[in-house]
Amino acid sequence: EKSGYRHFMLKEIHEQPRAIADTLAGRISENKAEIILNDIQLSTSCLTGIDRLYLIACGTSWHAALVGKFLIEKLARIPVEVDIASEFRYRDPLINSRCLTLVISQSGETADTLAALRQARTQGAPVLAICNVVESSIARESDGVIYTHAGPEIGVASTKAFTTQLIALVLFTLFLAQQRKTLADSQRQELIAALMSLPRLVEEVLQLDEAIEQTVRPYLHARDFLYLGRGNQYPIALEGALKLKEISYIHAEGYPAGEMKHGPIALIDEDLPVLVLAIKNATFAKVCANLEEVHARGGQIFIVSDCDCSDLRALAREYFIIPTTHDDLMPILTSIPLQLLAYHLAVLKGTDVDQPRNLAKSVTVE
Ligand code: F6R
Repeated sequence: EKSGYRHFMLKEIHEQPRAIADTLAGRISENKAEIILNDIQLSTSCLTGIDRLYLIACGTSWHAALVGKFLIEKLARIPVEVDIASEFRYRDPLINSRCLTLVISQSGETADTLAALRQARTQGAPVLAICNVVESSIARESDGVIYTHAGPEIGVASTKAFTTQLIALVLFTLFLAQQRKTLADSQRQELIAALMSLPRLVEEVLQLDEAIEQTVRPYLHARDFLYLGRGNQYPIALEGALKLKEISYIHAEGYPAGEMKHGPIALIDEDLPVLVLAIKNATFAKVCANLEEVHARGGQIFIVSDCDCSDLRALAREYFIIPTTHDDLMPILTSIPLQLLAYHLAVLKGTDVDQPRNLAKSVTVE
């Protein structure tokens, strides 16, 4: 069942090129110019009439929603609010029929997300879901569904479900931008071309598996880890920290790199591993400056970057180079070394990787 892998989690990490290709399949027009989302069930007038979006989810799916905000605001030019499902209902949200609600759930059974969906519907909002499980409660109660085609996810820690949620969000954003005419054809086509080459790039990132396995031993007794990123990499820092907490039981926090100086920098000493997502985009120079601040205080720096740069190499204890693609898609590539890092540390610690203590695959209580 595990196809020769030691754990479902590792199998599922390695299934990502296939899962991404399956989630894209049939959703790009033959001339590679347009997105086709027949399952969405919302009329063009609904999609062009909305003036705000609410993205609602829990846990890893909430991290996908945070990336979604970057995509939708940048490419479809609509304001997006992101909510943790268990918080949404209790804050008297300003929601009405012009607010499209997008709920994100792998299982489609998460009680908090389902309750938020029902609340949004009661207040007259159209509801769309990104779901992995066909005919799940959330899928059934939504107006439309964009299914991720990750296949069954058995490991409690979400991996392929997360990256395929990001794919679904990119497809949805491009579709929305297409309907609302907020993006030039050439920009859409550039992203479509980048999407189509992602399975191959993810395959390339997965080649880091052994190198990551070989680096983890010195960090076996680390008590904390810090993950830093900016912009669309900040949610990936949160996701990397969550993966580590869940399966290795090492305390970890994700932080926007620019916030370090407002408090968390006090934590840095020679015992603290700090993983920095340093992607060659508009904030690269800022991230490098943040990295130097950590280095000056003795932190053990791990870098994940699409840029092989000797200045960074000089500061890093561990340096993982990944291929580059369109910046809007980089979160999909950077999440993979973080999954592998959490996995190999957990295996070394001897925890129950697929069934971590106190956790359930689908949380059906509020
Ligand atoms: C983390 C994880 C959880 C889930 C959360 C939401 O690895 O698996 O944080 O992401 O319980 O679950 P779904 O997506 O099924 O609603």
